[in-house]
Formats: sequence, C-alpha cells, structure tokens
Amino acid sequence: MEQVKSKKRVADHGEVFTNTREVNAMLDLVKQETERIDSRFLEPACGNGNFLAEVLNRKLDVVDSRYGKSLQEWEHYSIIVISSIYGVDILEDNAKECRERLYDIFNERYTKLFDKNCKEECRRSIRFLLSRNILLGDALDFTNPETKAPIVFSEWSAATGSMLKRRDYIFRFLVEKTHQFSLFNDQSDAAAIDEPIKDFPLIHFLKLGENDSN
Ligand SMILES: C[S@@+](CC[C@H](N)C(=O)[O-])C[C@H]1O[C@@H](n2cnc3c(N)ncnc32)[C@H](O)[C@@H]1O
Repeated sequence: MEQVKSKKRVADHGEVFTNTREVNAMLDLVKQETERIDSRFLEPACGNGNFLAEVLNRKLDVVDSRYGKSLQEWEHYSIIVISSIYGVDILEDNAKECRERLYDIFNERYTKLFDKNCKEECRRSIRFLLSRNILLGDALDFTNPETKAPIVFSEWSAATGSMLKRRDYIFRFLVEKTHQFSLFNDQSDAAAIDEPIKDFPLIHFLKLGENDSN
C-alpha cells in the first residue's frame, strides 16, 4: 500500500500512512488487548485505517477460533468486535475508506465462513456500527470540520442475551474533564462528565440501523 497519496495532502494534513510492519510492531506492545474481543480502541487520526484494520483482524482471528462453528455466536461476537473499534479523521475520503475497509474485512470472513447462511441484517448492523464509530472529525478541536458540531461517540455494551446498550457521549468531554457540569442531559439536569447525552433502549444486535432512531 502507498504511504503517500499526494504531496499536497502531506503538507496540508501530515498524511503519511504507516506500513504494516510498524503497525504490527506497535500493536504487539499491547498484544493482549488486541486479542480481547471487547477491548476498545480509538484512533484519533485513523487515515484509511491501517491500525484499526489490523486490530480488527486480530480480534476476528479470536472470534473465528472460538466461535467459527456457530453462526449466531460468530455474528454476535463480531458485532461486539466492530462496536469496540473507533476512528476519527479530518478528511471525509479517509473516514469513508476506513469504514469500507473494515466492512470488507468483516464481510469477507463472514461470507467465507457461513456463505448462504449469512444474513443481510447482520451486514446492516455492521454498517450501522461503522457509520457511528468511524467519524469525520477534527481530533484537535473535537468538532466536525464541516458542520462544527461536536463529535459524539456511541458507547456500545453487551447486555443480557443478544441485546446491546448504546449511550452517546460528547468526545470533548471525555477528553477534557474540565467540562464537567457544562452540559444538560435529557431531563435538563446538569450532566456529569461520565453521563451520556443520550441513553438508548436496549436493542437486539441484528436490529441496529433498522430505523433512524437507533
Ligand atoms: C500521518 S497520517 C496517519 C494515518 C494512519 N493513522 C496511519 O498510521 O496510517 C495522519 C492522518 O491524520 C489526519 N489528520 C490530520 N489532522 C487531523 C486532525 N486535526 N484531526 C483528525 N485527523 C487529522 C490526516 O488526514 C491523516 O489521515
């Protein structure tokens, strides 16, 4: 893979992609976490996803070896894997490429393992998670560079059975703890740093993205 797309992009955005050898050497420093299905990774200048793609491959290797014989379990744990991977990039084409790359990694494995038993609703859930987790954003001022709206990340956690819980947080507040009590929650009460700005009802992991409100 090319490490540079253009001289202008290097000058404007410091865009030089990391090669696979360095990516793996760095991820090996936190090897155990890269192989834990639900450990969360955020890359604040993710480019087209060189680190996130490798994290995804490592985690899916674990899912394959533990759950490769069960469609339902493989789908469930793969969704937990994707839900734990986050990225931000200031260039929309990079964020899009990153989403598509992570989706293709998932889909290639899914299709190879389960072929005709694969479900479109599982693919939709994966696409929805990627649309929520890999965002266009400026990681220095924590806003969308086009709309200037604050970056909002969703926390996904596994609940009982096949259900997932989503809570949305303002990225800046997660990073800059000084913003405590500067925000209001759904009930118009002052929200603490560790309170979500939105709390969603539990949802089945195959129902993500079924409508706009989840
Ligand atoms: C050196 S490249 C690294 C890309 C990727 N992490 C990798 O290792 O291959 C830097 C990336 O940061 C992005 N970038 C530059 N300024 C940024 C900012 N303020 N917020 C978010 N992303 C930014 C660029 O678009 C580029 O994709």
